[in-house]
Amino acid sequence: MMIQLAPSALSCDFSRMGEQCAAMEAAGADLLHLDVMDGHFVPNLTFGAPVVKSLRPRVTMPFDVHLMISEPLRYAGDFIAAGADYVTFHIEASSPAGETIAAIRAGGARPGLVLKPGTPAQAAFPYLADIDMLLVMTVEPGFGGQRFMAGMLPKIAALRDEIARRGLDVPIEVDGGVDRDTAPLVVQAGATVLVAGSALFGQEDFGKAVRELREAAKRNE
Ligand code: DX5
Ligand code: ZN
Repeated sequence: MMIQLAPSALSCDFSRMGEQCAAMEAAGADLLHLDVMDGHFVPNLTFGAPVVKSLRPRVTMPFDVHLMISEPLRYAGDFIAAGADYVTFHIEASSPAGETIAAIRAGGARPGLVLKPGTPAQAAFPYLADIDMLLVMTVEPGFGGQRFMAGMLPKIAALRDEIARRGLDVPIEVDGGVDRDTAPLVVQAGATVLVAGSALFGQEDFGKAVRELREAAKRNE
């Protein structure tokens, strides 16, 4: 299974965001993970659709927009218009999940569903046939640089097993505390898309960081 690396721009130098995202692409990353926070669904604020739009001409890799906002259905269209390829939203948000998935797809983007650490795997089961990405949080959403929650590994494995049992093809993405030590664990549990902020944008040498994380992930591929 091919592993994809999705650097999280949350750990970039925001004064040079375009340049750094382009450099991460040149370093060999696969997807650009963009964390949108509304200060309501999570206790932090980041950026909105205008920032995503301004990055679009600078980067070719697909945009993986992670909406940590209370009303994803209300804003998904803005992010699609701004150039999002994947729009992933939280099942715990207040928008109806089925309707939000349908709206993202109708808008021309690929819908993804995200589970917070306290949300059981089973909550995603009804939607597995309708999504293009399943994101499992391995920290509480809101901040970069937190410690990986190893207790999420059985949840990743349960989702992998259910996806396989039903003959579906939904990539499992993992977000939070992914680094050279934890990447092999999440890959072993069934993740194929690895988000990393501190371990990629947080490093001086992007090329080295991408290479080393990819090597570490390969150990259990
Ligand atoms: C946290 C965000 C993450 C964050 C991960 O709420 O969803 O994408 O940037 O950062 P690290 O990799 O440093 O844990
Ligand atoms: Zn994220």
